[in-house]
Amino acid sequence: MPPAGSDTAGGLHVAIIMDGNGRWAQRRSLRRAAGHRAGVRAVRRVVESAPSMGIGALTLYAFSSDNWQRPKGEVQALMRLLREFIPSETRRSVRNGVRLRMIGRRDRLDPGLVRSIEKAEAATSGGRALDLRLAIDYSARDQILRAASALEAEGATRESFDRRLATAGGLGDGYRDVDFLIRTGGEQRLSDFLLWECAYAELYFTPVMWPDFTAADLETALAEFQRRQRRFGQVPESSAG
Ligand code: IPE
Ligand code: IPE
Ligand code: MG
Repeated sequence: MPPAGSDTAGGLHVAIIMDGNGRWAQRRSLRRAAGHRAGVRAVRRVVESAPSMGIGALTLYAFSSDNWQRPKGEVQALMRLLREFIPSETRRSVRNGVRLRMIGRRDRLDPGLVRSIEKAEAATSGGRALDLRLAIDYSARDQILRAASALEAEGATRESFDRRLATAGGLGDGYRDVDFLIRTGGEQRLSDFLLWECAYAELYFTPVMWPDFTAADLETALAEFQRRQRRFGQVPESSAG
């Protein structure tokens, strides 16, 4: 029996570290911001195709807490893109039955951006086709720390901690283990993304830069996921005994 939180009845939970925007741009002698803009188009492609590929929840790493340390101009460009993206994505999400939510810290974001996120969350709360989570000012270690410091001294279980973690991330009761983690851009690391939720995630690394990532690339990745045998620490039934 798979452990709690990995129930795939609502479709797979796929998480994507959308990496490689800057290098994509630099290879074309463009500014890094142009790579981020092209990255937004890749987000739209993936979000549109996910529901038909058996994905029920999709968590996208858009901005890490460590990304604040990038040059001011790049941070501003990223925040500007998010301010444009959230309202337009809200309209699209309502049309397509996508529930849009944000995970991460809100207290360091521009108040206008926070308002548009809150609006998006309210307007799309009835969406059932896809549970889309955007990670902004996100740090898994920070989220785990906040959940742990909210924990009572006694009576904690895996499940109660899962709930606290979801709450600390801003998801209320929406905790879900990650089934499949994709990272584009060629690096093979987690960069402080969903450390707890990925305990038994299948990992997939591709050299494709995020702005080049297409629905066909997502399909190729998912075909690889289907070939994996998940064991959750147990022995497969065929070799038991
Ligand atoms: C990922 O692309 C997007 C963000 C981190 C916001 P990068 O900007 O990290 O692109 P590379 O890794 O420098 O190519
Ligand atoms: C991770 O990518 C963050 C996002 C994709 C939003 P980074 O490019 O920031 O990660 P590192 O610095 O290569 O580990
Ligand atoms: Mg990067």
